[in-house]
Amino acid sequence: MIAPEQITYLDNNATTAIDPEVLEAMRPFQEKYYANPSSGYRFAAHVRDAIEQAREQVAALLGCEPGEIVFTSGGTESNNTAIHSALETQPECKHIITTAVEHSAVRNPAQRLQERGYDVTFLAVDRSGRLSARALVDAIRPDTALISIMWANNETGVIFPMQEIAAIAQERGVPLHTDAIQAAGKIPINLREVPMQFLSISGHKLHAPKGVGALYVNRRARFRPFVLGGSHENNRRAGTENAPSIVALGKAAEIALAKVREESTRVRSFRDRFEKSLLEQLSDVQINGADASRLPNTSSVIFGGIESEAALLMLDQENVCCSAGSACRTGSLKPSHVLTAMGLVNNEARASLRFSFGRFNTEADLERALDVVPRVVRKLRALSPVIA
Ligand SMILES: Cc1ncc(COP(=O)(O)O)c(C=O)c1O
Repeated sequence: MIAPEQITYLDNNATTAIDPEVLEAMRPFQEKYYANPSSGYRFAAHVRDAIEQAREQVAALLGCEPGEIVFTSGGTESNNTAIHSALETQPECKHIITTAVEHSAVRNPAQRLQERGYDVTFLAVDRSGRLSARALVDAIRPDTALISIMWANNETGVIFPMQEIAAIAQERGVPLHTDAIQAAGKIPINLREVPMQFLSISGHKLHAPKGVGALYVNRRARFRPFVLGGSHENNRRAGTENAPSIVALGKAAEIALAKVREESTRVRSFRDRFEKSLLEQLSDVQINGADASRLPNTSSVIFGGIESEAALLMLDQENVCCSAGSACRTGSLKPSHVLTAMGLVNNEARASLRFSFGRFNTEADLERALDVVPRVVRKLRALSPVIA
């Protein structure tokens, strides 16, 4: 077993370490305050109060009302819930608009809808991963039930112009959902300035545990729950609340709000120095999405002539964690749909690695990455019949 201290962890878009303050905040609800928050006694009221505090903390991060936050089991459920709700409340509408670069937690539900007879428009992106607002306007139809467009891409970090997208959706009267799972905590989000119906976040991308998330539901939006059962979450999501994880998500949101500006500057400096040094040290290196607005922490790099799967194995031997395309594709040789949608050819997509920095990265991590990554790339290129 590898000791976590030996790891150079550059995969913060896959998941993040739990912040010690978050662990501290959730611990009492794991250890002592185990009451079912729906029970009538005071012992349960304490848990209920903690959940409501978490709701306020998450609402503050997003710039909305606490009553507009529904806790879920994570980003995937939040995304599915938004899509489900938009379709259930508008049964006459059989069309949705999304993009060709969504995470599978939107892409797969959208594909499933196609199989069930819905029309789905997958908006294309350009070589830098950018969307065309014009294409969005043109795609809207009278029977469009939902626009679901991610705020920031998990593989490239490319940020979509959510303010412009929200203005288009609002003007045309089409409900808007955004998967903000990668954006939350990395860039400021303010729903008062960017109006929409639904927004998804996930705990484990912002230093809270896995298996908890939230869906913002605009108080004026029509809503139908996805998970049916008891009357939890004001009848919007059934199931006994995962109180310790919800408390953790609240604390993580509070910290993210307090730190987002300072942290993004720090992380951006790591990312920029990393990219600059790779470009200086190696030939045939390209940064995916370099011309687009990007999350400060994400670096998706094409190292011409290598196979990312082989690179991952060698980096793993060096205790460096990063991913090829997205983590969900590890073990599969299919090139990333995101990079393919950006127009990368097979060889380029399969030569891409994603590095994502985070709160707990240090100068030492950067130095080590800049020692190991170029070495691994050179070694692979020396073995490659094409380049050698
Ligand atoms: C953009 C995006 N959406 C959705 C998800 C899924 O979130 P969760 O793991 O909380 O279900 C992820 C996680 O990788 C993601 O990056």
